[in-house]
Amino acid sequence: MSVAVLRFDVISIFPAMFDAIAAHGITARALERGLWQLQRWNPRDFTNDAYRSIDDRPYGGGPGMVMLAQPLADAIAAARAQQEAMPAARRLPVLHLSPRGRPFDHERLLSLVEGGGATLIASRYEAVDQRLLDTCVDEEVSVGDFVVSGGELPAMMMIDAAVRLVPGALNDDRSATEESFATGLLDCPQYTSPERYRDLPVPEVLLSGHHARIARWRRERALEITWQRRPELLQAARAAGRLSPVDERFLADIGAHERD
Ligand SMILES: C[S@@+](CC[C@H](N)C(=O)[O-])C[C@H]1O[C@@H](n2cnc3c(N)ncnc32)[C@H](O)[C@@H]1O
Repeated sequence: MSVAVLRFDVISIFPAMFDAIAAHGITARALERGLWQLQRWNPRDFTNDAYRSIDDRPYGGGPGMVMLAQPLADAIAAARAQQEAMPAARRLPVLHLSPRGRPFDHERLLSLVEGGGATLIASRYEAVDQRLLDTCVDEEVSVGDFVVSGGELPAMMMIDAAVRLVPGALNDDRSATEESFATGLLDCPQYTSPERYRDLPVPEVLLSGHHARIARWRRERALEITWQRRPELLQAARAAGRLSPVDERFLADIGAHERD
């Protein structure tokens, strides 16, 4: 039986933008090594008129243009047909990147990777015809409470985050499990050479070679920074049983229990 490789089908009128992840860095190296697959679909290739129109004015008036349902629906169908023809056939979820969508976070990222990827619609302009969303899209996903000009950058953020979790994509797979959010906490500070920079020394414990003390110091800094910046993550980590009695004692010592 073939094992399904993480796969993303992206639907965008600017497919070349995805060179940013296909030709550079960790994602490019992983793509070259077959650790994930990328397929680009341009809705303009699925238009029926001489102008290759993919948008029109909104019914009811108002600013901006609205993307037509039909070219997007046909692009989704083409992506699906190719997914189903693969040796490890599957039906990937169809996600529309949108500021109106459910916030994308670490939990959602894990389920995306476990599900083997997605078809991502990176739209442009004012909106997409609601009937396309109602009939062809499983979920709308947002990368934050702000608006960018198109779904390409949000889609690339999601894909990059997903590829990092594929075993072998990073030089050291521990990087992905020790990072912010993966542990339930924000990451601890890191230092490199020189030992003194602008009169600021590297914390002495990191030079000690004492692995247990270094691990404890890092854990405490992660607890502290999470409490200061994202106290709700600390509460979630506690509710999930991810804080040890030693962690709780440290948090009590720094006064975190009074505020969170
Ligand atoms: C200019 S925006 C449209 C914004 C839309 N009129 C609204 O107010 O919700 C064009 C496209 O960029 C993408 N986009 C913009 N901000 C986004 C965000 N925060 N998360 C995900 N996609 C976003 C979406 O694909 C969106 O359809």
